[in-house]
Formats: sequence, structure tokens, C-alpha cells
Amino acid sequence: MVHGGQDSAGGARGVFITFEGGDGAGKSTHIRFLAKALRRHGLEVVSLREPGGTPIGEKLRQVVLDPGNGELSDESELLVFEAARAQLVSEVIKPALERGAVVLCDRFTDSTLAYQACGRGLSAEFVRRANEFACQGVCPCRTILLVAGGSAASLKRATRRGADRIERGGAAFHERVMEGFLEAARREPERIRTVESAGKRSDTARAVFAQLADLFPWMADELDDGRLFAQLDRPPRRRNRGGRPARKEGGRG
Ligand code: TYD
Repeated sequence: MVHGGQDSAGGARGVFITFEGGDGAGKSTHIRFLAKALRRHGLEVVSLREPGGTPIGEKLRQVVLDPGNGELSDESELLVFEAARAQLVSEVIKPALERGAVVLCDRFTDSTLAYQACGRGLSAEFVRRANEFACQGVCPCRTILLVAGGSAASLKRATRRGADRIERGGAAFHERVMEGFLEAARREPERIRTVESAGKRSDTARAVFAQLADLFPWMADELDDGRLFAQLDRPPRRRNRGGRPARKEGGRG
């Protein structure tokens, strides 16, 4: 089995890739697409989101995102994110990397620096130490920062169905968060690769693969061929009320 040839943490054999960006940057679409491609190449893929990914983490997620918890202090918010992360690392990420899996995580430590340090104004030094404590020696070997043409536009997309507690932070908060991500990418250009996600989904997916091709050499062939990406621009199939794809006229049953 191919592992991408990178150690993510103390002798672990797997590959740990995180996706970052403002709310509504399209992370979940591109993580799903990448996971499918990796699985087709015979790799075990563990796809996670933060906060969450464990039963305890999902409960903590509710605490931190519930708009009803308006009184949650910034300090407490940081510790809830870190608690969820510590649980996810020990319960899921470490064992998966030890098995040699590819772990894809929708948000990780860079979000905490961007949201809690740059956005909320907590000490960046303390947030870094808290991140380190929660991560127990695990760190992403590559991070894709998806940037979707300004924080206001992507936030609007993300909150179409109602904003959670963090999304209600306001425009200035989200601008500071975005600046925090961009600053992190300037500081660590080798790990954090910025990908524009304002255009066609297929273009974004190609750019994501291009930033990972050194870890998975077969991606270079997919990039040359190009057909894999075209499916992302097809309109979604119509669904009937039961949530199943609508049958074509004249089809069975
Ligand atoms: P989610 O609905 O998963 O947002 P998205 O789909 O945009 O990723 O909610 C996670 C929210 O939590 C998101 O607004 C970012 C925020 N967050 C932090 O503030 N700090 C963190 O450390 C993490 C992991 C997330």
C-alpha cells in the first residue's frame, strides 16, 4: 500500500492532511472528493471534522456552536475546542496514523490560531501551547487553505440555513480570522498551501491535487488526464421527496 511516504508524527506511518479556511469555503466538498480518489487508489481514509469526530467531541461541538450559549467566554471556548481535539487525537487520529491511514480533517490547529487568537484576541502564544498540548505530538504534514473570494461572500454562503454561535461573530471578526489564516500560510509556506476556491469546483479540486502530488505521485497522472475533475461541475442529480435520486421517465418501478 502507498502511504504518501511522509511521517506525520513520532514514527506514525500515515499521512495527516488538514483543510482550513473561512466558513463556507467549500472544504467539505473537496474533502469528500479527495477521500473518494484516495480510496479508489486502495488507501484507508479516515475523514474527520473539528470540533467533533468522537462521541465526546460531538457533544462539545454542540456546546461551542449552539447560538443559545451566548455567555460562553472566549477562554472557555478555546478550552472546549482543545478538549474536543485532545479526544479526537487520542481516540481516532493517532491510532489511524499508526495503522498507516490517510487522515483528512476539516479544520485543526490553524483554525484555533485564526479564530481564537486572531479573531477573539486571545494570546497567540498561549493558543499555540494549548494546541501542542491537545495534539500530543501529532501535526499535519500538509494543510490546504481554501480561500473563497473574501470572508463576507463565503460567510453568506455558509449561513444560508442560519448562523451558528461562531458564524455570528460579525464581519470584522471574520476578517481578522481570514487575515490570521493568510498570515499562517505566509509563516509556513511549505506546510500550508493556499488554494483559491472562488471559481469552478473542478479548478479548485485540480489545484488541491497539485498541492498534494508530492505526497501521492499517482495524482500527477490524474492531473494530466483531467477527466476525474470534470464530474465536479455537473449539476447535482434531482432528488425526489424521499431523498433518493429521481428516476428517469420510463425507468424501472
Ligand atoms: P462548522 O459548521 O464545522 O464550520 P465550517 O463548515 O465552516 O468548518 O463549525 C465549526 C466552527 O468552529 C467554525 O465557525 C470555525 C470554528 N472553530 C474555531 O473557532 N476554532 C477551532 O479551533 C475550530 C476547530 C473551529
